[in-house]
Amino acid sequence: MIDLSVKIGGLKFANPILTASGTFGSGEEFSHFFDLNHLGGIVSKAVTPEPRIGNPSPRIAETPCGMLNSIGLTNAGVKQFVKEKLPFLQSLETKVIVNVAGKTIDDFSTVIKNIEDAGGVDGYEINISCPNVKEGGMAFGVDPIITGKITGQTRNATDKCLIVKLSPNVTSISDIAIAAENEGADGLSVINTLVGMAVDVNTKRPKLATVKGGLSGPAIKPVAIAKVFEVVNAVKIPVIGVGGIMELNDVLEFLITGATAIQVGTANFVSPQISEQLVFDLKNYCQKNSIQTMADIIGSLKI
Ligand SMILES: Cc1cc2nc3c(=O)[nH]c(=O)nc-3n(C[C@H](O)[C@H](O)[C@H](O)COP(=O)(O)O)c2cc1C
Repeated sequence: MIDLSVKIGGLKFANPILTASGTFGSGEEFSHFFDLNHLGGIVSKAVTPEPRIGNPSPRIAETPCGMLNSIGLTNAGVKQFVKEKLPFLQSLETKVIVNVAGKTIDDFSTVIKNIEDAGGVDGYEINISCPNVKEGGMAFGVDPIITGKITGQTRNATDKCLIVKLSPNVTSISDIAIAAENEGADGLSVINTLVGMAVDVNTKRPKLATVKGGLSGPAIKPVAIAKVFEVVNAVKIPVIGVGGIMELNDVLEFLITGATAIQVGTANFVSPQISEQLVFDLKNYCQKNSIQTMADIIGSLKI
């Protein structure tokens, strides 16, 4: 029997394949493609205290080997989330992580408290790394002191699994990672999107209305691998690798580098069943290579 399970804090995931925030709706949108319970976990779209309409269009542009987005944390606010999205998520056996965002430090714990009252989720991913908002987002995630404050405050708001999502757009990702670990994070998601920009040569206008946006997809995978490598060598808590995962070898690359789990993002737009396929592919790989547990692969990098 192959055991694909992994643990982050006290939370056990049946396998290391999760979906990345903002690329998988609130799960329900993908439920007619496959049985979501095959996944290790689902990470919801960002939830903020109040509704947000997000940024003006165009807010998506295709780029070589990836895409730019400037969605700007569009969501209906935590009250609507609890009413409309949570009941479906509560019906799932797979682990449910809610991605939390805010304009102020207090916003993060406000969202968590509202969801804790309703119950039924397994953990939270604190998004201090969104490059597409003027207030909060990446502005928080580039500062170790603010990162520590938000982590400490959200830690006090929940006993559930607390994951902090880090930005690659920083001088030293290790300093931010250590700040989150010191204030009680159970795990770290590495990475959110890289700041990017593209120009339409015919109109001479930027392809995004916000001018700059967040780059994701295979183009960012080597950056994500390097950031995972840096962070796993700086902290003791588990790291979730995110960035450009399209196929099994990408999953293996992150696990070998030391990630305990991974998230599938942009690939969901190309192939909505890809995350389930990766669970099957990982199981087959383990069978063929006589791998019994994920500990046999995680961090097996040879330098
Ligand atoms: C359209 C879109 C929306 C996103 N929305 C969020 C979000 O709400 N919260 C968040 O933490 N990350 C968000 N992300 C970042 C992804 O979760 C992920 O970190 C990033 O895209 C890198 O992974 P990938 O290359 O596999 O897409 C979004 C990414 C995309 C492409």
